[in-house]
Amino acid sequence: MVSKHEVVDFKNELNLLQKNNLYRELIPVETLGSIVKINGKNIIHLCSNDYLGLSCNKQVIRTISNSLKNGISQCSSRLVSGNNHVLEELEYDLAKHKRREKALVYPTGYMANLGVISNLVGNEDLIVSDELNHASIIDACKMSGANVRVFKHNNIEDLEYKLSGSHYKRKLVVTEGVFSMDGDCAQLKELGKISHENNALFVVDDAHGDFLYGMHFRGTAEHFRAEKYVDVIISSMSKALGCFGGYVVGNGDLVEYLINKSRQFIYTSALPSIFASASITALKFCIKGSLQKKLWNNVSKFRKGLFNIGFNVSSSSHIIPIIIGDEKKALTLSKTLLKEGVFVQAIRYPTVPKGSARIRVSITSSLEKHIDDALDAFNRSAQKLSLI
Ligand SMILES: Cc1ncc(COP(=O)(O)O)c(C=O)c1O
Repeated sequence: MVSKHEVVDFKNELNLLQKNNLYRELIPVETLGSIVKINGKNIIHLCSNDYLGLSCNKQVIRTISNSLKNGISQCSSRLVSGNNHVLEELEYDLAKHKRREKALVYPTGYMANLGVISNLVGNEDLIVSDELNHASIIDACKMSGANVRVFKHNNIEDLEYKLSGSHYKRKLVVTEGVFSMDGDCAQLKELGKISHENNALFVVDDAHGDFLYGMHFRGTAEHFRAEKYVDVIISSMSKALGCFGGYVVGNGDLVEYLINKSRQFIYTSALPSIFASASITALKFCIKGSLQKKLWNNVSKFRKGLFNIGFNVSSSSHIIPIIIGDEKKALTLSKTLLKEGVFVQAIRYPTVPKGSARIRVSITSSLEKHIDDALDAFNRSAQKLSLI
């Protein structure tokens, strides 16, 4: 039965989104991996965050299926129905990997940001947040009730300026390690130094740099030799680990505090241990380094190819935005690419500022055999739309 009680005119709002080329629709995709099936056709997948291809790794899948015999979910919070040893084991491994005292797992990376940031500061405090930070960080800042100042993207002088003022009880600076929609890296050492000089906690969301950057794959903080300046690292297990869930690492007191105070940890069901066991196995593959080698080869080949076609490529990471500007043009390019055999999304407002719509390409280690075909599709699409 359809309710006739219309409190909000959703249709009108949806029409407006359509009119402004900001309407989002779900595209049905069968199978996972570097090739996906869309409408029965094999398509090269260039919008996955499964950067090391671990979501399809046979050993990781075997781990999940073996641990299924213990049940699907704890169906309750860890503080209510007991602490599963697999979650503890994963937390031990993550903390050890990151060389931090303790880790705490959340159901998703989004919830980790909410759960950590919104509980570390409150209404007598100040958060200074990069203007390009992810929606989950923005939401966490709002939820905290703290005074929020936004600093110009990756800008040290502006951060210093925005940190001024001594009447706050606590100060917190937050940035991403690798920016999810621009693919550039934060100047972690410089940002961290300024944060500490101003007695601020320095928090880094490394969802897109974790397990990829650094000599030991500890992420962007290791890569930029900034580990001593980063007080708290928040990350996701559904990017390079190819699994599911979120986590935070920091000192022991911080983690104890979160267990006691973080509503997003206390009042929700635990991450199913099947996912924790998958992450434990995936982490073992991550630290070998061979997948990262393949990834960076693919990135380099793809960037060179795009440049040769005539695209302006500024990012040097595995996230390669092709800035189109106009929302409609970006959508048309995404649809044309799909017809040519490549799946990439047009990223539009409010994920990125209005008028800076883009095609966000993400490269993975398992694309090796498909890079040339993907580049051919970009070439044909760009010519069709007279973009080059
Ligand atoms: C920078 C950043 N932080 C956090 C998240 C959320 O992670 P999850 O997908 O595990 O919720 C994302 C997701 O895309 C992200 O890009």
